[in-house]
Amino acid sequence: MMNKLIKYYIVVLFLIVLTGCNKANNAKPKEVVTPFNAQVDSLMALMTLQEKIGQTVMYSGGWSITGPTVSSDNKKYIKEGSVGAMLNVYSAKGTRELQKMAVEETRLGIPLLFGYDVIHGFRTIFPINLGLAASWDLNDIQKGARIAAEEASAEGIHWTFAPMVDIGRDPRWGRISEGAGEDVYLGSKIAKAYVKGFQGDDLSKHNTILACAKHFVGYGAAQAGRDYHTVNMGHDELRNVYLPPFEAAVDAGVETFMTAFNELNGVPATGNKFIFQDILRNEWKFNGFVVTDYTAINELVEHGFAENEKHATELAIKAGIDQDMMSSANRLYLEELINEGKVDVSLVNNACRKILLTKYKLGLFDDPYRYSDEKREKEVVYKAEFLEAARKSAAMSTVLLKNNKALPLNNKQTIALIGPLVKDKENIIGNWAAAGDRKGKAISIYQGIHEYLSASKIVYAKGCEIEDFDMSNFEKAINIAKKVDKVVMVLGEDYDMSGEAASRTNIKLPGRQTDLIRAIRKAVPNKQIVLVLMNGRPLDLSEEDNLVDAILETWFPGTSGGYGVADVLFGTYNPSGKLPVTFPRTVGQIPIYYNMKNTGRPIPPRNPKQDYKSNYIDVPNTPLYPFGHGLSYTNFEYSEVQLSATSIKFSDTLTVSAEITNIGDVDGYEIAQLYVHDKVGSITRPVKELKGFKKIYLKKGESQTVSFTLTVENLKFYNNHEFVTEPGEFEVAIKGTSDFDFKQTFTLN
Ligand code: BGC
Repeated sequence: MMNKLIKYYIVVLFLIVLTGCNKANNAKPKEVVTPFNAQVDSLMALMTLQEKIGQTVMYSGGWSITGPTVSSDNKKYIKEGSVGAMLNVYSAKGTRELQKMAVEETRLGIPLLFGYDVIHGFRTIFPINLGLAASWDLNDIQKGARIAAEEASAEGIHWTFAPMVDIGRDPRWGRISEGAGEDVYLGSKIAKAYVKGFQGDDLSKHNTILACAKHFVGYGAAQAGRDYHTVNMGHDELRNVYLPPFEAAVDAGVETFMTAFNELNGVPATGNKFIFQDILRNEWKFNGFVVTDYTAINELVEHGFAENEKHATELAIKAGIDQDMMSSANRLYLEELINEGKVDVSLVNNACRKILLTKYKLGLFDDPYRYSDEKREKEVVYKAEFLEAARKSAAMSTVLLKNNKALPLNNKQTIALIGPLVKDKENIIGNWAAAGDRKGKAISIYQGIHEYLSASKIVYAKGCEIEDFDMSNFEKAINIAKKVDKVVMVLGEDYDMSGEAASRTNIKLPGRQTDLIRAIRKAVPNKQIVLVLMNGRPLDLSEEDNLVDAILETWFPGTSGGYGVADVLFGTYNPSGKLPVTFPRTVGQIPIYYNMKNTGRPIPPRNPKQDYKSNYIDVPNTPLYPFGHGLSYTNFEYSEVQLSATSIKFSDTLTVSAEITNIGDVDGYEIAQLYVHDKVGSITRPVKELKGFKKIYLKKGESQTVSFTLTVENLKFYNNHEFVTEPGEFEVAIKGTSDFDFKQTFTLN
């Protein structure tokens, strides 16, 4: 036999030549327009069909479990060259060992790709994504993703399964916590910020990682908010609401896409040619690779779309899916399907090519270990500046929902700190917290407040647990409430009550927490109570809104959350967050979002119910807290909008401006929001649509004119797959919330 060793040396020699080309290319990057194609061609010429299929296979290292594990013998598969990527593996040492196996013990030495769910930070955990979205601060979100990439890349991660850009309009759905909320415009901007943050400006750098736009598509529209459930939607909603954030990710250069678990109009996403071929590849010209969600190929059988797993494998590759996460389907059935003539070998070649190209782009053929860097890992992870950035993000993400002069706190008051989340370090970092530490590293709200107030001014009682129904500790909490100047209650959900497979039908505070507020309110009727919330979804706070004087929504604010939240509570950071998602009055209003359609029988906003109109007989149509809402410790006054013209042609642009004045007593940030309403359309248009926003800083008494430029592009929408502009009348406004009535119009002719 031409023994294995000789073959190995031929290959190594060959790879050295490739590597040389690669380095030469790196020396003059500008001239290399389509790098690595030649290298991939040469490498693929050496590969067997099984090895090519191997590149389309991903297994979990099981270092964190996200779902049912299919394969138990990953090492064997790696050595055979039957695996192209691993997920749930991390640490410089661990990934280096695995990589060594792929590079030194396989026939061709092709490096593995290591993927991980780096969702809102890797070790230094930022607020959950819904919270980050509430900052409306694109620079900050991008910076957070950059930091996550810095940390993750040092621990061997090449690829994050983020951002999740699914629009979420149903607070029952647990994964609403992972997205940017309900709005298309905001969601699209945020999608870009994440992609740029993770991928940086050059993928060949050792501190940039691949991003992954997920879950394509419609995952957030699961029926009844139940995870993985059926999705039915027309082209209007698909095109105008659910697709744009994905397209934005493509525009930002996202390298990979992930399929959704759900079916879309009867066709499960993982077998859906329309979305992957017609839209993603043909329309959007995406040329990265597509990975399935966890075991999603096998699930085509349960969906009732494939007869068996072999059939599912055929359907997935034919739909344009390149890599199989955890189904074992490609490994077990692809070769057979090709031999039987059911699958064209070109599909495997294409998938393998895209995956190899990506590995080249990351520089893994230059140095397969460049990401697994123990020295860098030590220097980078939990860097002081990262923890400081997380503190700022936590402050910027909080939303002051209500404030009856109870906030900010001052350091002369005595305070009773009450609630199961006061001293918590486990929940505060939220769900999908990658390799974040749920014990030592996180800063609790108690610790944060302690920075501002001496221990002698704080008394603490837990009062109750988050989820159980025991009220035996109420008394202690009531007693301390009686002895202080002000009560601060820190309540909310457990971190795992949101995220994947964590849908709720009841979106109130769990357990006895509302009873605890009630009991304390009764005991101290005239004392101010501040409610600090941690939760992964909009909650029904109708009762709490009546019981307390201030509500600060902090989501799950992350590793430095305690400090960031205390900065807001004491006014070091004047809250500027605005809701990226509507808070309903009751679960019965769901779905409820600001840019609904008018119906043929609308009632004017804020009006009481009327007979035979589109309203409920028991609650108003309006939410408790609308999209875009968020208070500050100061007040901002908006002038009526000024328009550069009241009538524009298709080729014109329109400048819309408003003067904003800080009329309160303290300096602060405001997020000015531009809304438009297209009054008549060939298909009906939403009552309001966000078309721009700006975060400005105004000292007390200061004014600033904020201007936006609208073009015809901003007014387009999809009607039956056509992106159209229609002449007519539009309403326009600039406000600090979505809750307002339009006063100005312009026409487009
Ligand atoms: C989730 C994905 C995630 C994957 C890998 C799945 O259960 O739906 O969002 O990226 O697991 O952990």
